[in-house]
Amino acid sequence: MEFDRSLVRDYWHLLCHRNELPQPGDYLRFETCVGDVVVFHDGDDLVVFDNRCPHRGARIYAGTHGNQAATCSYHGWTHSRGQMIVPHRENYSACDLREAKLTTFPTDWCGDFLFFAITPRMSLHDQLGDAAEILENISFNIGACADVNSYVYDCYWPLAIENALEPDHISLIHPDTLSKLELEAGENIYIGLNSVWKAPVGNVRLRKQLIGLKRFFNIDYGYEGYMSLYLFPFTMLSSTYGYSYSLQSFFPRDAHQNTTNFSSRLLVTPLRDEQAATVLSSFFTSTAQVNRKVFEEDHDICKRVPRSSWSAEPLKFASTAEAKIQHFRQSCRAHLETTGAIGQHKP
Ligand code: FES
Ligand SMILES: [Fe+2]
Repeated sequence: MEFDRSLVRDYWHLLCHRNELPQPGDYLRFETCVGDVVVFHDGDDLVVFDNRCPHRGARIYAGTHGNQAATCSYHGWTHSRGQMIVPHRENYSACDLREAKLTTFPTDWCGDFLFFAITPRMSLHDQLGDAAEILENISFNIGACADVNSYVYDCYWPLAIENALEPDHISLIHPDTLSKLELEAGENIYIGLNSVWKAPVGNVRLRKQLIGLKRFFNIDYGYEGYMSLYLFPFTMLSSTYGYSYSLQSFFPRDAHQNTTNFSSRLLVTPLRDEQAATVLSSFFTSTAQVNRKVFEEDHDICKRVPRSSWSAEPLKFASTAEAKIQHFRQSCRAHLETTGAIGQHKP
């Protein structure tokens, strides 16, 4: 429990891309084991806060995403353009309403990706290391969000992360989706606590089709194959040919119930022109559907792995394709050692 909480508190977490929340009122809400984290567009800026109203603490946003002014439904207090608007202000003459503010979290940008932290142990750029350059390049090649898929995974979060970190399960768990790409073994790249897997598409017919789509996109960055970037501790960003990105977060939601707040968003890259938008609209629709199916398949198998099957110790029987799991567990052990939480972590 303390392990999960300290990870949420101590590290930076990728929340969203700037273009996901273009309009005033656009918001995303995440549940974590230390409480809600909401990012919303307040008319001027993106604000990241704990979803509590400063009046009497009601949660302001209830959905997972959408468009809604930051108005508390209890007594109507509203945050807009950096100000708290309080109805019947005259009734609060004994109070200093200048102190009535949202409790916001520290934020920082990497390119157009917004991160938040609570009490970070290092700067965002120290945490990301050389992964920052990759992220910046990706962020400048994202146009909009095309799909939001957010729900509760019925498993402990490291099990979902480890599932996302190894390709060995693809043929059995995703036979009609990801498996069709016939991904090759590829290479793992380790960047501090973070890791990248780059794998060429082995299916020649699909590879040719994917290469043929390139002329419709207006992008200057993208791995020509399948790439998944893991950002310790809770974030994955994956893409095929850089034509769209699936941004996933796996926040520990409730350590007692062993549930994970899973969120994935399909971020699409800029297209060359209107004609490309027409041609590719069904491509993006089917990408969104396939992604949803892949995550359901992952969820179904993760549910079968009880929390007690996880520990931060190295896997006893690790295939070569599970090397990133070993790296992840090493990062978990390092965190446990530095926080002194080792021994307190009971699976
Ligand atoms: S608790 Fe939000 S307005 Fe009263
Ligand atoms: Fe999977």
